[in-house]
Amino acid sequence: MTAADSGFIHRFVAPAPSGPKTTLLLLHGTGGDENDLIPLAQRLLPGAALLSPRGRVLEHGMPRFFRRLGEGVFDLDDLKLQTDELARFIISSSLRYGVAGNRIIALGYSNGANIAASLLLRHPKLLHGAALFRPMVPFRPQPVPDLKDVPVLLAAARHDQIVRPELTSELSEILTTAGARVTIHWHPGGHELGPDDVAAAKEWLPE
Ligand code: MLT
Repeated sequence: MTAADSGFIHRFVAPAPSGPKTTLLLLHGTGGDENDLIPLAQRLLPGAALLSPRGRVLEHGMPRFFRRLGEGVFDLDDLKLQTDELARFIISSSLRYGVAGNRIIALGYSNGANIAASLLLRHPKLLHGAALFRPMVPFRPQPVPDLKDVPVLLAAARHDQIVRPELTSELSEILTTAGARVTIHWHPGGHELGPDDVAAAKEWLPE
């Protein structure tokens, strides 16, 4: 189903009748859309409910989840606003689609990983876990939120053209200080995902 209400164009894929009590929240990269991560999610957790919004900010026609001033330089006011709007959308969609009792695990790639990290840090009770593929540090939270025991996968790349390795270390430190259970996977290539990223996410996905 594609729907444009709640401010976000999105797809919702209903869970299989005996599927896991999990909703995967899918957050695409810059220039992507709500369809991009559905095949990956279906491989990772067959039968789960999928909630896949399209980022509402357009950069030269390419959807993103928040504005940026340059590569890796984020508009922090817009990031805050968009993160809060996305949180509202997730809560209202969970009620609307009858999956409010599900745990919510985010799968985000690149710009989608950055807003997923922002959701974790600004709305620490909302997500039950997050797999962040090629994330940066969205912002530096003060004070650090309580993410005790929330599992987070950071899937970084050794030769990422966009994300410097120091950013992976810094994000890991922020999340660990917040109490999250951080797992780091290092992909040997660049920003694009490889089969090893998919395998790492499958192994990481909480039971
Ligand atoms: C971002 O702007 O979120 C990151 O630079 C990743 C990207 O979308 O290129």
